[in-house]
Amino acid sequence: MATDQWVEISFITPFELADSLADRLIELGSPSVVFEEVPDRASPLPTHHSSLITGSFPYDQSFSGKLSAVRAYIQSLRDLGFKVDPEAFGQTLLDPVVWEERWREKFKPFKVGKRLVITPSWEEYQPHRDEVVLHLDPGLAFGTGIHPSTRLALLLMETCLERERVDSMLDVGSGSGILTLAGLALGVEKGVGVDIDPLAVEVAQENARRNQLHDRAMFLPGSLENVQGSYRLVMANLYLNLLIKMVSDFKRYLDREGRVILSGILVEQAWPMREAIVQAGLTLLESKEAEGWVGMVVVLEG
Ligand SMILES: C[S@@+](CC[C@H](N)C(=O)[O-])C[C@H]1O[C@@H](n2cnc3c(N)ncnc32)[C@H](O)[C@@H]1O
Repeated sequence: MATDQWVEISFITPFELADSLADRLIELGSPSVVFEEVPDRASPLPTHHSSLITGSFPYDQSFSGKLSAVRAYIQSLRDLGFKVDPEAFGQTLLDPVVWEERWREKFKPFKVGKRLVITPSWEEYQPHRDEVVLHLDPGLAFGTGIHPSTRLALLLMETCLERERVDSMLDVGSGSGILTLAGLALGVEKGVGVDIDPLAVEVAQENARRNQLHDRAMFLPGSLENVQGSYRLVMANLYLNLLIKMVSDFKRYLDREGRVILSGILVEQAWPMREAIVQAGLTLLESKEAEGWVGMVVVLEG
């Protein structure tokens, strides 16, 4: 984990807006978002609660742009008539050591699905029979597997790999490399990951070496324009607007029999995503929900 400074930003919002605001923070690059229930100051009833949402961003040259984007989003919600108090907004510069300690405390070995165990690279883990262990240090990249959208993608991938042999996969928005590396550990022959964040690409390459999967994994900076070839499995754990924009492009990177796993979709966003899938001429084969998020498996033909 790098020791650059991070800023935590938090705001109080009505319950019904909590998911969209959290989604916006993740879109802007917050690696995780924490929700807490707090008393609703605007209500006389002690039983009424609001959500306190906290996200975090590196304190670098991109921070003020991200802060303006969050403020603009809050304003757009207010313009639509929602009661989000622009003053109920705070930011705290985190001590790098505190930030790293907090983040490390949350990341412990855990099992996803039937065989895969994700463990922080600094923890000892003795695998039980049949378990496949992935040692990860996500650094500043997204992808510990703690986030429900990553877990959903991993679960859907496991089911897909149980049903058929997958020789190649493409991971769009590979972050720490978790999806590609989990796929390779579970039997995929070759994997390519692509991420617009060059730092994430470095982290993913390091994780590939750490797990001795570097011969079968390639991580590239940028996005689809840098990818060649076609794949049996395309994974994309991104966010709604980008998935809608990209879903048709995924077809160009898919084998005839291939499938796409989409994640990063909130339950209430499932419908626009489904519409975009149909419009792209693809077929939704399966979807799975967890903790307010949905993952979808999509194929070329029904
Ligand atoms: C939600 S994270 C997913 C990380 C990891 N694949 C996982 O499942 O945990 C999304 C990642 O997509 C990257 N990203 C965002 N827009 C992208 C784009 N247009 N093309 C490629 N990567 C993108 C971000 O930098 C981030 O690392």
